[in-house]
Amino acid sequence: MENRQVVIDSLPDGKLKEDNYRLERTTIPVPADGEVLCRTLVLTIGAGTRAGLQGSASYAGAPKTNIVMNGTGVAGVEASLDDDFAPGDLVVCASGWQDYSVHKANQLTRVSDDIDPAHYLGVLGTNGLTAYFGLLEIGQPQSGNTVVVSAAAGSVGHLVGQIAKLKGCRTIGITSTPEKCHLLVDKVGYDVAISHRSSDFRTELKVACPDGIDVYFDNTGGDILGSALFRMNEHGRIVCCGVVSQYDTSSPAGGPRGIPGLLVNKRIRMEGFLVFDYADRYEAARSEIKSWITSGQLVPLSDEIDGLEQAPAAFVNLLAGGNIGTRIIRVAQ
Ligand SMILES: NC(=O)c1ccc[n+]([C@@H]2O[C@H](COP(=O)([O-])OP(=O)(O)OC[C@H]3O[C@@H](n4cnc5c(N)ncnc54)[C@H](OP(=O)(O)O)[C@@H]3O)[C@@H](O)[C@H]2O)c1
Repeated sequence: MENRQVVIDSLPDGKLKEDNYRLERTTIPVPADGEVLCRTLVLTIGAGTRAGLQGSASYAGAPKTNIVMNGTGVAGVEASLDDDFAPGDLVVCASGWQDYSVHKANQLTRVSDDIDPAHYLGVLGTNGLTAYFGLLEIGQPQSGNTVVVSAAAGSVGHLVGQIAKLKGCRTIGITSTPEKCHLLVDKVGYDVAISHRSSDFRTELKVACPDGIDVYFDNTGGDILGSALFRMNEHGRIVCCGVVSQYDTSSPAGGPRGIPGLLVNKRIRMEGFLVFDYADRYEAARSEIKSWITSGQLVPLSDEIDGLEQAPAAFVNLLAGGNIGTRIIRVAQ
């Protein structure tokens, strides 16, 4: 038995490449007192971890090489030296991109057995909670508001659109390809979808929002933020969630025009947040999200790729827009 690990071989110079990673094989770690040995079953890959490799995510610390790539997984407990966990339990842990990892028992979240465990990597995990708190707390959507979401087919974005609909809003999703635009309307329930790759994007955004924008949920920054800013209504809210358009590069662009003038004149609130700030409310949020899933009001999407060794290619592909919903890597059955 061995532990396969995907290790950061070099930091990306420009766009991320598969060969920024290498696969290593090592021995399975042994838990000490109070620790638990976990076997990764599935793990998730999201755009935000690219910011960690760039060094722009200050909360993630300085990027490093020769360490296992970080990531969150659902794992089965293989061995436990803690009374609260036993072999066979399912947990969420900071597994990293590897087969086996050891954790202190208090760093594990038990997965309840009333719902698909993979939901804990998406809709009930960091990204679902990000969509929930970002939209409801920072965006404060009111019934009848126009809500625009960028990276709308991604893990966070496809949930923001659905929660905004639940709150009675008109929703506009921004994505890349015609296929993803169709999916946003037909499967995710956005009222309108437009492509940020269109040469006429600014006009298409204007046409899609005849009454202006009340809430812009910004996953991308860059030109999309620049365009949305000019369509905001008075007292509108811009939810600064992430900057995915500027992660996969060594030379991120500066901020958009119109700040602070537009914010002042239109009394716009533009506010960043980190989901971790709401940790003490995760359980209540999960329970409300679960009720939406059970009633069919919220339909989480994910795409699954088989094999730990596929993780680097799956990450490169995701940054190019290849994912729909939450990207999951199946590591073991
Ligand atoms: N604040 C927080 O606490 C928090 C927590 C979690 C995540 N986040 C942030 O939330 C955002 C979304 O994360 P996610 O995991 O939902 O993303 P994701 O599922 O990994 O999706 C990434 C998507 O971004 C889009 N994209 C890539 N390059 C782009 C570009 N240059 N311009 C426009 N769109 C581009 C692509 O879709 P298209 O096909 O549509 O281009 C891609 O599929 C990220 O910025 C992440 O950092 C923040």
